[in-house]
Amino acid sequence: MRVIKIRKASDCREQDVTPEAIYRQRRAFMKGSMLGAGLLLGSSPLQAALNITGYREKVVTVDEEITPFKDATRYNNFYEFGTGKSDPARNAGEFDTSDWKVTVSGECAKPGVLSLEDLIDNKDLEERIYRLRCVEAWSMVIPWIGVPLATLLKRFEPTSKAKYVAFRTLVDPERMPGQKRAVLDWPYREGLRIDEAMHPLTLIAVGMYGKPMPNQNGAPLRLVVPWKYGFKSIKSIVAIEFTEQQPQTTWNMQNPREYGFYSNVNPKVSHPRWSQARERRIGEFFKRKTLMFNGYEDEVASLYAGMDLKKYF
Ligand code: MTE
Repeated sequence: MRVIKIRKASDCREQDVTPEAIYRQRRAFMKGSMLGAGLLLGSSPLQAALNITGYREKVVTVDEEITPFKDATRYNNFYEFGTGKSDPARNAGEFDTSDWKVTVSGECAKPGVLSLEDLIDNKDLEERIYRLRCVEAWSMVIPWIGVPLATLLKRFEPTSKAKYVAFRTLVDPERMPGQKRAVLDWPYREGLRIDEAMHPLTLIAVGMYGKPMPNQNGAPLRLVVPWKYGFKSIKSIVAIEFTEQQPQTTWNMQNPREYGFYSNVNPKVSHPRWSQARERRIGEFFKRKTLMFNGYEDEVASLYAGMDLKKYF
């Protein structure tokens, strides 16, 4: 396992965390993928709601090849735009995310309705290369751009009653045609325990591959929780609520036997219909072993000390 621990962004340079050869190789690769990204972005109207230049590069990274941009943007789960993996890329192109507002409410001293620009402080933006492991046993490595969720949440001054954080996606069937069908109980909902939400690895992402977030990946802002199955990483967030009780989550409501509240990546706890011991990295032929907590065990295992992870799956 080659996860690099988080340090203060200001004293962390790429050369500190990655061997020189991999660094060079990655820069070359990133240049190539930027070119592809540019072409692809040119063909779909992507609103650059935020100026995401000047972010700190690669604060946390993994020594694994980055998934090509075209795979990360054409093989998606985003049921608001259809249930097929290629539906979001096909159907989300026209999704208008301008004038986006996020409501922050619940157990906090400073609730409010904020524009994206007010919510995300440009100086807090960082690039973080994380593994994403989907419950369906495929995985990717993605360079996200975002702010630590903790940095964002602290501004609202959560009270001592804030034990959990709940998130909701936009409901607007005209703009999100997948919502015209009741395949899920809309809105898409997710939740974290407050210590998970405040963990330094938890990110609110507003971009990837050096660009604003593509619509199919959850524009204009989404959650990224790298040690949990991908479905916890809720897209196109419009509401964040501090709660005292454990909030409802979409997949747990849909099928509680198959999807628990925690959803930590765990090769030892099978999904009722398939094993979680191995995964297919998109673009690779042979499956690889799934790592405990998706490889972030050193960083997050202490959050679950003493818990039976078969019970709290
Ligand atoms: N968020 C919303 N609002 N709707 C969704 O259907 N799918 C989830 C998650 N976030 C989903 C969502 C699932 S199942 C996965 S695996 C990830 O998004 C996929 O993220 P990606 O398409 O960027 O790889």
